[in-house]
Amino acid sequence: MDRTAQLTARVTGRGIAYDPPATAPSTAPSAASLHVRAARVLASHWTGTSTVPSRYLYPHQWSWDSAFIAIGLRHLSPLRAQTELETLLAAQWGDARVPHIVFSPSVPLDAYFPSPDFWRSSTAGRAAGAPRTVQTSGIVQPPVHALAAWLVHRADPGLSWARGFLARVYPRLAAWHRYLLRRRYLLRRRDLGGGGLVSVVHPWEQGMDNSPCWDGPLARVTPAAAGSFRRADLVHGAVGDRPTNLDYGRYVRLAGEYRDGGYADGEAEFAMEDPSFNALLIASEHALARIAAELGSPGAARHARAERLTAALVERLWDDASGMFLCRDLRGGPIRERSVSGLVPLLLPGLPREVTRALTGTLRGPHFAARTGLVPSYDLRGPAFEPNRYWRGPAWFNTAWLVERGLRAHGEKAAADALRSAFLRTAGDSGFAEYVDPDTGEACGAPGFGWTAALTLDLLHDGTVESGEEGGDRG
Ligand code: SER
Repeated sequence: MDRTAQLTARVTGRGIAYDPPATAPSTAPSAASLHVRAARVLASHWTGTSTVPSRYLYPHQWSWDSAFIAIGLRHLSPLRAQTELETLLAAQWGDARVPHIVFSPSVPLDAYFPSPDFWRSSTAGRAAGAPRTVQTSGIVQPPVHALAAWLVHRADPGLSWARGFLARVYPRLAAWHRYLLRRRYLLRRRDLGGGGLVSVVHPWEQGMDNSPCWDGPLARVTPAAAGSFRRADLVHGAVGDRPTNLDYGRYVRLAGEYRDGGYADGEAEFAMEDPSFNALLIASEHALARIAAELGSPGAARHARAERLTAALVERLWDDASGMFLCRDLRGGPIRERSVSGLVPLLLPGLPREVTRALTGTLRGPHFAARTGLVPSYDLRGPAFEPNRYWRGPAWFNTAWLVERGLRAHGEKAAADALRSAFLRTAGDSGFAEYVDPDTGEACGAPGFGWTAALTLDLLHDGTVESGEEGGDRG
């Protein structure tokens, strides 16, 4: 393994040393300064045990943010990257769910809504085994964690073995996946549709909060009264970049009802099978197989399970007519909106060839080929498209990273290289924005966003530490 990145951008007693790796600037003069700027963002968001996505808009630890952040942080400090994931997993509930937010006790209650006094995890979540010593939300987020743990391990196997990193996280990750995949009639976990896929029960769980995919299902939900809560996000985010008050009323209603039911899984007013959430679980299941093998137990059964999940994903969510995967509403059937969620499964190694061919065609086509070269979160030609508003059109960097990885894994080198260049250029130009207008690249949301900086580092340096990480699956 090439350790250049770790040696030149290491954590010292005083924090992160910003020297970029000697390999980075040779082909692109701006790579060194991009590295330094991205490293500074992560250093300024580090709390001592984890990384906040944004000091102002998101001042706690978020589940899928932490996974993406760890993937970038491993190039600066494998120790911090391991700690990031360990901190999150330490807040895992007794029923094995990994909460979507782990609250920092030092942040004032009114800095973020919904705050710990809304979720009341240690009391309302007692039957589900919520931890007593740390406050969390009660919903989950996409399971990127096993993939992140594997990549973090590969960045410095020596440190990982010395700290027993894999042996400590493996049982928690395996239990997390079991929680998600249990069938409703067995233990009332998350396979609510009974077809082998996980359902999310809140738009915040799927992570693309105000995607137009949820407009139809959310219309059935009576919003919480406007005066019954106070949004903190609008203090720091532009109104036009954020979800509407009507959306928030519905988010609050759904979360409050889930909480009032003791966070028990079962019948849900909002229950969606989502391509991206399930694809990330499958990618993580493959990663878990590699972790198991590294720890000395056979990973074959896990790879086989990942293949079965892939088959279920194709069977239940593939849509030939649109050339992409669609979300499925358990009450209403397929949701006929094109979201980037339906392109994320390109990440998976075991897709039928005609599916990967159609997905790459869709990426190049009029619905997703944006002028920045990034991937919009929603159909450029869709009726609900808005270039600035959160997940209703803007291009995000985590989904670009996933699609880039998918293109590369399936041998689409030129397209992957083009997406990588667009990512690095726009991330740098936008000041590591949370998301950007997909055509102009204009920065939206929070500036200096955690996963944008982290995944920038990953794309700058993956060639230096990733050889062999995929066990041969990466194209
Ligand atoms: N994405 C949500 C927010 O905007 C929470 O996960 O706060």
